[in-house]
Amino acid sequence: MSLDPQKMPRHIAIIMDGNGRWAKQQGLPRIEGHRRGSEIVEEIVESCRTLNIPFLTLYAFSMENWARPPEEVNALMSLLKEFLKAKCQKLLNNEIRLETIGDISRLPQDVQEVLADTKAKTAACDKMTLVLALSYGARDEMMRAIQKVSAAGLLSEGSPPLSPEVLAKYLDTHFMPDPDLLIRTSGESRTSNFLLWQTAYSEFVFTETLWPDFHESNLIKVIEQYQRRERRFGQTSDQVQDRAI
Ligand code: IPE
Ligand code: IPE
Ligand code: MG
Repeated sequence: MSLDPQKMPRHIAIIMDGNGRWAKQQGLPRIEGHRRGSEIVEEIVESCRTLNIPFLTLYAFSMENWARPPEEVNALMSLLKEFLKAKCQKLLNNEIRLETIGDISRLPQDVQEVLADTKAKTAACDKMTLVLALSYGARDEMMRAIQKVSAAGLLSEGSPPLSPEVLAKYLDTHFMPDPDLLIRTSGESRTSNFLLWQTAYSEFVFTETLWPDFHESNLIKVIEQYQRRERRFGQTSDQVQDRAI
């Protein structure tokens, strides 16, 4: 492995796309793609834990995914519930805390319960945080944040102007740093309403690999690619490298 331990991303976010196409290629129903996808989730979580990545956010179900056929939505919800029940002990063993972002209140009651249970059980785990984006849409998150800001009286006359730092405290992601690296599998080059605020300065990597084929070796290659980039945050290359100008 040729990864530079000094330049590891603190937060990786992944748009796990391509389950349906993978299943189609294999002549299987779409849900089999999702099932295989959940096995890859387990593998990638383990890899990130081994690589000491503190935050991993996985886009598992978008706001727009509610518009899929009800059978597929139901199958995804059952899969999620089974996954959480089956992997809770493993999260505990690996000291991984589970968190979620998104409008969880729209999920079926039984899924909400198993989520709450897993979050509570893993709350004290501090080696890594696994964040599932569920019923998540960045615009929805921002609208909810603005409503909370308003309800807190921060927009009323006489209060100081709202700053980006204060607004960020009301986003679902308030407990973690912005992603350093955003990965999307399956060859699509769009964000599909994912972390629009938080990825202002993330490095994006779009890979052709379908999510069910995305193994640890693929992840390591993407991190290598990330480490070869120069993050300038608006400055010049000389400034970033601290060279005299
Ligand atoms: C990603 O795979 C998983 C979810 C969106 C839930 P898709 O189901 O979008 O797979 P494709 O894009 O149809 O191949
Ligand atoms: C994005 O994938 C959402 C998730 C991976 C959960 P989609 O497959 O739903 O995105 P679009 O519709 O192709 O943009
Ligand atoms: Mg897709």
